[in-house]
Amino acid sequence: MQIQHTISGTREVIRHWLAEGESVALVPTMGNLHAGHMSLVEKARTLADRVVVSIFVNPLQFGPAEDFDAYPRTPDQDHALLEQAEVDLVFEPPVEEMYPDSMAIQTTVEVPGLSDELCGAYRARHFAGVVTVVTKLFNVIQPTVAVFGEKDYQQLLIIRRMTEDLNSPVQIASAPICREQDGLAMSSRNRYLDPEQRAQAPRLYATLLRVADMLREDEESLEEIESRGLEMLRADGFDPDYLAIRERHSLSEPGEADSDLVVLAAARLGRVRLIDNLTVDRI
Ligand code: PAF
Repeated sequence: MQIQHTISGTREVIRHWLAEGESVALVPTMGNLHAGHMSLVEKARTLADRVVVSIFVNPLQFGPAEDFDAYPRTPDQDHALLEQAEVDLVFEPPVEEMYPDSMAIQTTVEVPGLSDELCGAYRARHFAGVVTVVTKLFNVIQPTVAVFGEKDYQQLLIIRRMTEDLNSPVQIASAPICREQDGLAMSSRNRYLDPEQRAQAPRLYATLLRVADMLREDEESLEEIESRGLEMLRADGFDPDYLAIRERHSLSEPGEADSDLVVLAAARLGRVRLIDNLTVDRI
């Protein structure tokens, strides 16, 4: 497994592969890898000849009061996992390599509308930061396909929209959420939870399951079900940002005839913000 820290070194490796007619799958990450990331790597392996994993904690997607400095960085552990998974190349640039000039004058890529609601309403400019770095990674690595986790459901749809709108040749693939045995969605931020919060945290998924049942029972309006979900979260000690039922492909508010739904939630336990989602087929 090669580890490259520069754009030029990475391009050189990939140029040889492309010249040999090999296809490349990219798994973009911010490191601190867990089984959820490794499931993306496994999926990538089935989609292309070569697998590249990027590890870059992207400052452009963190707000001034967010956890950029504290975000867990575990390069040795990450390299060992990626080596074991037979990844071909790790692209791990320092911040100056990705943003040589001030980030204040960085050209950004934005997906309006979709980026402004749900998580976007609580994390100003977050998705512009994500879409910009993903576009830069696509330009550096030129993958045939890139794999993203369905846990960041809104992010996944925004990236799909960006590739469609910009006629990007990169295919976007996704892999399902990986959960701990008690249902908690795997996330690098779970390590911030203290033991009491860790015991409470699976109630987020339990609430989504209950909301899905209510949707299938079809006895209450969507607004009533959303309010019941929010009440359940508050009763379990969460401070929810939102719990929303949306049409699964567009994230628009569902009409009566829409059956492909997704329930999304973001909620805080102390200073830890958790997100989760669950797709539901309304019959
Ligand atoms: O999902 C993440 O880990 C990040 O948002 C991503 C896609 C690697 C961009 O920094």
